[in-house]
This record gives sequence, structure tokens and C-alpha cells, in this order.
Amino acid sequence: MVFFSVFPVALLALSTVHAVPASQGAVCSDGTAVPDEMCCDFIPLAQALNTKFDNECGETAHEVLRLSFHDAIAFSQSQGPAAGGGADGSMLVFPNVEPNFVANLGISDSVNDLLPFLSSGQFPNITAGDLIQFGAAVAVGLCPGAPQLEFLAGRPNATAPAIDGLIPVPEDSVDQILARFADANNFTAEDVVSLLVSHTVARADHVDPAVPAAPFDSTPFTFDTQFFLETLLAGVGFPGPLNGSAAFAAGEVESPLPLTEAPNSGELRLQSDFVLARDNRTACFWQGMINQEELMAAKFKAAMSQMAIIGHNRADLIDCSAVVPKPVPALNKPATYPATKSFTDIQQACPSPFPSLSTDPGAVETIIPDCPDNQTTCSS
Ligand code: HEM
Repeated sequence: MVFFSVFPVALLALSTVHAVPASQGAVCSDGTAVPDEMCCDFIPLAQALNTKFDNECGETAHEVLRLSFHDAIAFSQSQGPAAGGGADGSMLVFPNVEPNFVANLGISDSVNDLLPFLSSGQFPNITAGDLIQFGAAVAVGLCPGAPQLEFLAGRPNATAPAIDGLIPVPEDSVDQILARFADANNFTAEDVVSLLVSHTVARADHVDPAVPAAPFDSTPFTFDTQFFLETLLAGVGFPGPLNGSAAFAAGEVESPLPLTEAPNSGELRLQSDFVLARDNRTACFWQGMINQEELMAAKFKAAMSQMAIIGHNRADLIDCSAVVPKPVPALNKPATYPATKSFTDIQQACPSPFPSLSTDPGAVETIIPDCPDNQTTCSS
């Protein structure tokens, strides 16, 4: 097996930075009290990451959140440690291996965004695995309504890339998805839904390459519950230049809001989100997220805490949560049916009563903005 790395020397040096026992505690130069002074290194890193993300919940931030999943889930209890090291930064240590797997299509954007933080020499004590998971915590904090994620530091660097086949793809069945998450970390069906909260701030560039930045809900820059509501609406077409046509890509099913007026793309629905929203193992938990923003944020935070340390022992890591920036506050807007939609469009799969929601005003289907600030051009 051939392993490629663009930063082998720097990363080998970094691999010695791990599993530091907690000291008496320290106070960073900005006054933040932390259990260990190693946490202080992440304060300037947070500032640099925020600059990279343009201080907004846009494309670059979304992509790093996705990277945190694709790095961490590459672990298999059944296949053993040789299959992958979990949240070990292998995506960055071997940037020419895992990012080339089909399930990781598009991940190289985030890999290329983060690699300079390792190679610059500005953060010599921060490992690749820590950079990815901390990057995700900073990224999601830019999305209004997101929780302040836990962050534990001290992941040793990956010594080998993960094998192909450990990242779920949207064509997978519910059985396959639940089995993969259980094999990775004993995740339950509810944990899977809790992690999929991330799709509230997500868009697809590569599912249908003809439709870049196709959002999974109508508010892709806000950490709200619209994703859980809109995935239960009946699909009416596919986004893109042939809106409403039968043109679709593998892993894609009809969405309820396909209207596309470039550069604003209509909503794209992943088959995996569609089936998980309707399966009897996940449907009630899914429906229970609707209009419950605080519950959703808490469940996401708990599941992300587990995901971020796959392949490591919690006791070997240092709790640096104090250096995770405070998230942007929630907009506190209740969940609503997009204009023209109502309960009659819901494909309810859970027998519990459905929340009562109002419909946004307007006589035509919602156009979803391409940029976080609703402008027509955006940098990230
Ligand atoms: C069943 C499990 C999952 C499947 C099948 C899946 C699949 C996908 C696909 C196909 C995309 C679009 C990629 C592109 O075309 O650019 C995507 C985007 C995304 N996913 Fe997932 N995903 C899953 C779970 C997760 C989890 C657990 C997280 C995080 C904890 C996550 C975070 C994201 C984010 C943030 C994006 C948006 C990236 C962007 O906007 O550029 N996904 N996912």
C-alpha cells in the first residue's frame, strides 16, 4: 500500500503532541481559564478559522463540518484498527488518499482549506485530528442557533489512511446506514438523526453536478429545524435548469422546493434523508425535532461529542471546550411551512400528533438565497 502526504515531516513532529495529562490548569493570555495550557493554542486558531470562514455560516464553514464527520466515521469495530483511526486527521495527513474516495467527493475543498493551518508553522502543537474537530466546532458556531460544541484536544496524528467503504452514501438503505453508524461507534438510530441535524446547514455540490450549492432546506445558513419539516413534505421535482423534470442523480429524490433561479438553486433532497425521515426506527425522533430548536441543538451537541472522539479514549484527551467561541445566537423564528405549503403536503410517518405551524406568506414557491446575507454574490 502506498501512502502519500504533502507534509510528512511537519506531521511526524506533531504526532508526539497527544495524551498530555491535565496539569493544574492555566489562564490564557485573553483571560480564559482552561484545564491545561495546551488549550490556549486554540484561541488564535479560532480567530484564524473565523477569518477563513468569512465569519459566516457559508460554504467554507459547512464543508469543514462535513469533513469532521467524514474523518471521524472512518472507524470500524468489526474490521479492527487497520480499517481506520476515526477522528485522527487522516484526511489531512494523507490528503491524496481518502479525499479521492467517491463518498468523499468535494471533501478536498475543506482539506485544502485546513492544510495551510498545519503547514504554516503558526500552530505547531495542533494535530490534524484536533484541527478538524475544532474547525467544525468553530464553523457550526457561526450558524445562528447552533450549540457551543464540546472540544477535547490531544488526538494523535493518523499513521495510516482509512480504507474505502466506511462513509455512508445517500443511496444506502436505512439498514445499511444504521449498521454503519453502529459499527463505527455503537451509535443508535436516535444518534444518527441527532448527527443529521448538520444537514440543516448543508448544500450539495456534487450529488447533481449540474446544480451546485443545492440546499437541503430553505434556510441553509441557519441552525434551525426547517430541515426536519421540509424533508417530510411531498416531493414535487428536482432542482436545476430542468426544474420539475425527471432529471435526477443517484442518491437524489424529488424535493418539495425545486424552483431554481440561478444562482439560487432549489432544494435538493437526499434519498437517505428521505428514507430516514419515514422509517419506523427514526420517524418519531425526526418529527420530534420540528420546531424544537433547543432540543435539536442539545441532541446534536451530545452526538457530536461522541463522534468527535471516535478512535480515542475520552480520558486521554484534555477538555478545551472553554476556547470554543460562543455561537451566534438563535434567530428565534418558529418553524414554518414554506409559502404555498401546509400540513396537507406532509407525509407523516410517526403516529404522534404533528406540530401546528403557520405558513410563510406568498403565492409562489420559495426561492432559496444562494448567499448567507441574501445577496446574489458571496465569497464563501
Ligand atoms: C446517512 C449519513 C449521511 C449521508 C448519506 C450524507 C450525505 C451527504 C451528501 C451526499 C452531501 C452533499 C455533498 C456534496 O455534494 O457537496 C452532504 C453534505 C453535507 N453533510 Fe452529510 N451525510 C450524512 C451525514 C452527515 C453527518 C453525520 C454530518 C455531520 C455531523 C454531515 C454533514 C454534512 C454537511 C455540513 C454537508 C454540507 C457540505 C456543504 O454545504 O458543502 N452529514 N452529506
